[in-house]
Amino acid sequence: MDNPISKFKHWWQEALVESPLQQHSAVCISTIDEHGFPAGRFVDLKSVSDDGFVFCSYLDSAKGQQIAHNPKIAMTIWWDHVGYQVRVIGTAQLITTAQADGFWQSRSRSAQLVTTAFAQSAPLAAERDLVTKLQQASTGLADQAIARPDNWGGYCIKPVAIEFLTFRDSRLHLRELFKDQGEGWTKQLLQP
Ligand SMILES: Cc1cc2nc3c(=O)[nH]c(=O)nc-3n(C[C@H](O)[C@H](O)[C@H](O)COP(=O)(O)O)c2cc1C
Repeated sequence: MDNPISKFKHWWQEALVESPLQQHSAVCISTIDEHGFPAGRFVDLKSVSDDGFVFCSYLDSAKGQQIAHNPKIAMTIWWDHVGYQVRVIGTAQLITTAQADGFWQSRSRSAQLVTTAFAQSAPLAAERDLVTKLQQASTGLADQAIARPDNWGGYCIKPVAIEFLTFRDSRLHLRELFKDQGEGWTKQLLQP
């Protein structure tokens, strides 16, 4: 397959079928912090298209601030049950507010409440505040529809390189590197 986005869709679908994972679409997103250190964390991959890979988060979280400062970003996946690793590098762009609204509406009310109750990445004084803050948000919004907070949205990673690794017990892993330097995708095999 010569188009890496089509190949990714195919692999993702394969990984989802009878997935043993509780979190089917967790992917590691790496950003660069203000000191130049890489910072990785898992998020839920929402969608993929020719535009790129979309995940949602608080836009003013640590990752959000890092992306605002440096939009160069990496996404790494390991699907053990099918033996696939995928590595993506690219540039993160904000999705539109209409797209963010769509993803917000697809979330459960409890997920919306938690998002509304907290300021992601800000210090938490005590563990009990997890419950009290959620209760306050819940009481304040009883029976009301929960609007998407302005500081919650999503990013689309516009890829410049995507590497697919097919794991083999022999260690003769197949590594297929796709790059787009502005003239369409090129493919190169890499030694394992
Ligand atoms: C399986 C899994 C899925 C997660 N999904 C998301 C997500 O979709 N969006 C998000 O903001 N955080 C998600 N988190 C929490 C992040 O890993 C992270 O703790 C949070 O985004 C704060 O990161 P930051 O302080 O670097 O911004 C997820 C964590 C796990 C373990």
